[in-house]
Order: sequence, then C-alpha cells, then structure tokens
Amino acid sequence: MNRRPLIAGNWKMYLTGAEAVRLAQAVAATSGACLDRDVMVAPAFTALAKVCEAVRDTPLQVAAQNVAWGKEGAYTGEISPIMLADLGVRLAIVGHSERRQIFGERDAMINRRLLGALAGDLQPVLCVGETLEEREADHTFSVLEQQMRQCLQGVAKGEMRQMILAYEPVWAIGTGKTATKEQAQEVHAFLRRFLAEAYEKSVADEVRILYGGSVKPENIDSLMAQSDIDGALVGGAALNAESFDRIIRFQ
Ligand code: 13P
Repeated sequence: MNRRPLIAGNWKMYLTGAEAVRLAQAVAATSGACLDRDVMVAPAFTALAKVCEAVRDTPLQVAAQNVAWGKEGAYTGEISPIMLADLGVRLAIVGHSERRQIFGERDAMINRRLLGALAGDLQPVLCVGETLEEREADHTFSVLEQQMRQCLQGVAKGEMRQMILAYEPVWAIGTGKTATKEQAQEVHAFLRRFLAEAYEKSVADEVRILYGGSVKPENIDSLMAQSDIDGALVGGAALNAESFDRIIRFQ
C-alpha cells in the first residue's frame, strides 16, 4: 500500500510570531524541495495567522495544536474550527498526551473536538499512546484500544479516511527515549488492524499513522523503514530548522 509520508512538527508552546515565521519559511523551502512527501507544522495559536500568510503559496501544511467544536459560543479560552479555517489552517491535532496529562482532557472531550474538526472541514490528527506504567503493566494494547474506541465514536467511514493517526507513547515524549522501531511497528500494525475491524480494510490501508516521541535525525530513517510507520510527529527536533530538514529528508 502506497501511503504518502507525512512529516509533522508540533511546535508546542514555543516561538513568538516572528520566530515562527522564520522557521516556517525555512521548513517551506525544504518541503518545496521534497515533493514526494507531505510536511506539516503546528504553531501556537498566536502564530497561526502569520505562519499561514507566510507559507500560503508553498506546499507546507499548517495545523492547529487543538480545536474546540461548534461555530461559536461561550467557551472562554477556546478556538473554533471556523476561526482556524478562516486563517487558512487545514488540520488540527487532537488528543495530544500533554492535553490529556497536564490539562485533564479525557477521551469523551477529545471525541467532541475531533467531531468538531471534521464538521468544520479540518483534518484531525488524533494522538493516542500509553504511559510507562501502562506499558510496564502490559496494558498497552487495551489502553490504545480504549482510546481508539472512545475517541472515534460517531466517526463515519468516509470521515475516517480523511483522518491521520499519531502513536505517541507518553514515556517517549521529550525524554530522549524513543520507542524501538520494533515497538513502534508492533503498535502501528495493531492500530491498523483496529481500523480494519472497526471500518474496513481499505480504510486501514489508507489512513496514515505517524510515530511521535523523541524522533531525531539519528532515528528517523530506521523508523520510516517500518511498513506501518507512515510519518512522524516531531516535537523538540522540529524547532530547529537543520534537524527538521534532515528529518523531512529521511531515506
Ligand atoms: P518530542 O519529539 O520532543 O519527544 O515530542 C513529541 C511530541 O509530543 C510531538 O507531538
């Protein structure tokens, strides 16, 4: 199955507007030179407008790091899909483990955000992943199955085809401790089987599954060589133009 690779940078709570534009321009230049793969960046909300403007005529895709649901409403601190689409944003990350662990977002809320994104024509990038405790207790697959089931409630087959998944083991995020390529491949294959059973095989074959958690220039090539790893969601190493350039140019 030929899935187009996607290398995505999650900039988290880093970079002011001017810094974000500078980095986005550098990344756009690399993405323009690598037309056989997709490249995405997710700046902070405050930099989205400027970054969208700066890369408008390039293939670089711009995502939000989270999204609410509905058109508008009394939701202090939230941003609606329409507000994002208005800026030229086309994708939104939902369910990142930092939202889950630090800000208490649960699967039911992530499900609402995801449905909101789909209703607003944003392509969701749904993140799932187990904690170290869960892995050590041998609960990895049951935890992932539960997250998938609950986050994807009410997502129709045609909508699933438009989505992107990211497997981000919580213990690998920002720790320098990457999952081995075998550990990542095993989970990716499991997630793909889940999609085949919950939807159908053609959906499972189409949906791109990214790996995230301490992806670096040194490990990207071996991760991308795995048959079910279709891309990467990169944190720290995406904040540096040179290291992200090397990750985008994985072989
Ligand atoms: P690091 O690449 O810094 O481990 O972060 C991964 C991540 O959370 C991407 O969303």
